[in-house]
Amino acid sequence: MKDIFEKIQKNMGPLGIHSKEAHGYYTFPKLEGELAPRMKFMGKEVLNWSLNNYLGLGNNPEVRKADAEAAADWGCAYPMGARMMSGNTSNHERLENELAEFVSKEDCILLNFGYQGVLSAIDCLVDRHDVIVYDAECHACIIDGVRLHAGKRYVYKHNDLESLETQLKRAEKLIGDSQGGILVITEGVYGMSGSQGKLKEIIELKKKFDFRLFVDDAHGFGTMGKTGAGTGEEQGCQDGIDVYFSTFAKSMASVGAFIAADKEVVNYLRYNMRSQIFAKSLPMPLVVGALKRLAMLRDDPSHKANLWKIVNALQGELKKAGFNIGITTTPVTPVVLNGTMPEATNLTYDLRENFNIFCSIVAYPVIPRGQIILRLIPTAMHSIADVEETIQAFKAIKSKLDSGAYKAEVITNVAVS
Ligand SMILES: Cc1ncc(COP(=O)(O)O)c(C=O)c1O
Repeated sequence: MKDIFEKIQKNMGPLGIHSKEAHGYYTFPKLEGELAPRMKFMGKEVLNWSLNNYLGLGNNPEVRKADAEAAADWGCAYPMGARMMSGNTSNHERLENELAEFVSKEDCILLNFGYQGVLSAIDCLVDRHDVIVYDAECHACIIDGVRLHAGKRYVYKHNDLESLETQLKRAEKLIGDSQGGILVITEGVYGMSGSQGKLKEIIELKKKFDFRLFVDDAHGFGTMGKTGAGTGEEQGCQDGIDVYFSTFAKSMASVGAFIAADKEVVNYLRYNMRSQIFAKSLPMPLVVGALKRLAMLRDDPSHKANLWKIVNALQGELKKAGFNIGITTTPVTPVVLNGTMPEATNLTYDLRENFNIFCSIVAYPVIPRGQIILRLIPTAMHSIADVEETIQAFKAIKSKLDSGAYKAEVITNVAVS
């Protein structure tokens, strides 16, 4: 018999294998100082495009005050226990009611975390007779929720309606006259490419097929739609979304999440969702803090307007400078470059050390070999001067990449202990 830890020494996993060279720099970097476009990385000020603090609420003085007061009033322990047992409060219910109203649904349930909430909601909504049909580029929380499913699942090509139709036909055929139904799962905004899920077109397919639609709108809530109510509002089809999910981890700049749907569905989730029934309730400071954030997001359109001013400037200038930013129609701004993994490493190092710009980098195996994506997240806190500085830096690194400069010397070890 083997020690189960034996494999750990041999194989750290697809990301872990880089830990020796990368820890503390490319992976687990420490951004210090106030949450803002300018933060400190390894003691030096960097222009930071890597936070999903879309509306700038994370460090807003009013929000900080509300968080501090709530922490002083309640502490982090209150309420104790799961919602169902002893952890319910009027503030939890008030937040649920306000969220439901804001996203035009009958009811809402709070979740402690987005990831485990999605996973658990999928687990709760389907049984072994049901079939899940989901987009190939869905977030890990959806993929992992689908993994728990004891019945069949079919994946369709990303945002490809023909592929979706094919899979819906297969699902219908498989279910036949049996007890099962179909759950289609998509995202509102895809966090890597910035493309929108084709919600309107997917909902149109309800005329041909019987299914319910689950939308993970983590990146759309607060950023999309006239009032910020998300991608369904943006596309004018919020009604057709049966289960609307978003997290507090992005526009709301906090921790927690929610699902909004018809009363009956939410009540079923309340009494059956294992991640909430068997876990302590969201602490009061997070609930009171979320009420404050929601009020600001909903009642003050200037945050979203500022965000989009920066989005339009950044994306417009990148395009003007000849950069490939893919098919984004949302604030998520990917800059797609061609290069190898060592080139990606060198380029990122150069960007951080010599141009003082910090952004996330995506390379193989997350995307195809030979591509590098620098992912920029504009926020309401950025300025037009930040955009200009970034465009100059990007032009410089692009010409170095094109000239092969990043091939020359491979920076192999920047790990910080
Ligand atoms: C699309 C999407 N869904 C779900 C989540 C998980 O949310 P949370 O951070 O609240 O666990 C994320 C990341 O935060 C995400 O990007």
